[in-house]
Amino acid sequence: MKPLILKGVRPYGEGDPTDVLVRDGFVAAIGEVADTADTADTAEVIEGHGAILLPGFVDLHTHLREPGREDTETIATGSAAAALGGYTAVFAMANTDPVADNAVVVEHVARRGREVGLVDVHPVGAVTVGLKGEKLAELGTMAKAGVRVFSDDGLCVHDPLVMRRALEYSKALDVVIAQHAEEPRLTVGAQAHEGEHAARLGLQGWPAAAEEAIVARDCLLAEQVDARLHVCHVSTAGTADVVGWAKARGTRVTAEVTPHHLLLTDDRLDTYDPVNKVNPPLRTARDVAGLRQALADGVIDCVATDHAPHAVQDKDCEWSAARPGMLGLQTALSVVVRTMVEPGLLDWRGVARVMSERPAAIAGLPDHGRPIAVGEPANLTLVDPDARWTVRGADFASIAANTPFEGMELPGRVVATLLRGRVTATGGRIPA
Ligand code: DOR
Ligand code: ZN
Repeated sequence: MKPLILKGVRPYGEGDPTDVLVRDGFVAAIGEVADTADTADTAEVIEGHGAILLPGFVDLHTHLREPGREDTETIATGSAAAALGGYTAVFAMANTDPVADNAVVVEHVARRGREVGLVDVHPVGAVTVGLKGEKLAELGTMAKAGVRVFSDDGLCVHDPLVMRRALEYSKALDVVIAQHAEEPRLTVGAQAHEGEHAARLGLQGWPAAAEEAIVARDCLLAEQVDARLHVCHVSTAGTADVVGWAKARGTRVTAEVTPHHLLLTDDRLDTYDPVNKVNPPLRTARDVAGLRQALADGVIDCVATDHAPHAVQDKDCEWSAARPGMLGLQTALSVVVRTMVEPGLLDWRGVARVMSERPAAIAGLPDHGRPIAVGEPANLTLVDPDARWTVRGADFASIAANTPFEGMELPGRVVATLLRGRVTATGGRIPA
């Protein structure tokens, strides 16, 4: 592979533009390297024009839909969307068909990810057999196959004894359980956040307490057995309070928030457009403010997309029949810029923390979320902070197009993504 020079880039958005030399998959030099004798003629060059260089993003929560729903996304199309969104590693959720509750399926997903080669695809293993919440899946066998994160996402591991056993196993295996927190008895038939908008439309409500109660319970269980718990898609300010309380007690809990929960509120319900249906649902402006503050303060550790592609017929239908979920990979950075950077809640170091360093640490990835420094693996994302673009779901690499940000003008754009020194996306395209 030819050496690569990123010319005129600003690591973490700090200092004057500089050059970064990438060779054999690693950062080889930072500074005025462009004209040294051994690279001047032979190196590939990406002109940065002062763009911001960040560690490649890591998504702990991606639905790639393969196997089973290749009509909505495949590991190939989802990997392309991830690379275009600045990601170098994604965690593929287990709610596929068949469910990733055994070593055969997780090994298949990992192998397809390697064959596509645009992003490191890490399969998430199911916590329970068939996501049924009853019997623990073979966590040990899957851990031996390389699985580091387990989740029944889409569904909650609601039985407290099953959750306790899962946490005990996770501790022994040194893996993490990621919980989709939803008390099922409190959300029977739920369609939208329980509040004035749902009430006006006559939609069955999804109360905040259904999330908060499970998170409180699971924090106590994790503390009891001294295991690590990760909370998926925190959607209420109250959940952030619970996580903050548990962290203050020393509980080993981490948490993620999605871009859509940082930007959108349940007034979107008034459109009655199911593109806005998601689980957990869009909440109130008060929740959005609380989530942003919690992310800024580090109470919520990271941003995860919950990228959830759906077929047209599963979204372009009556609200109650529509499936919950939204695309996220190609809009995540821009939404973080809009909701966190522009209001001054995070600087670019902070963006590196919540999009790359913390998620990599939570999942135990040694080669992602690393400092931008000589000798480190060149998993990098180059961002133009001044770009403005208009979201068009039809233009995404994903097969599905269910973005709630359609038509919005958003700030910040990924200029290039590098995976182990190889360009996986540049100028909004996947290189041939
Ligand atoms: O909105 C959601 N969609 N929430 C989930 O938990 C699952 C996901 C999906 O798989 O579509
Ligand atoms: Zn979920």
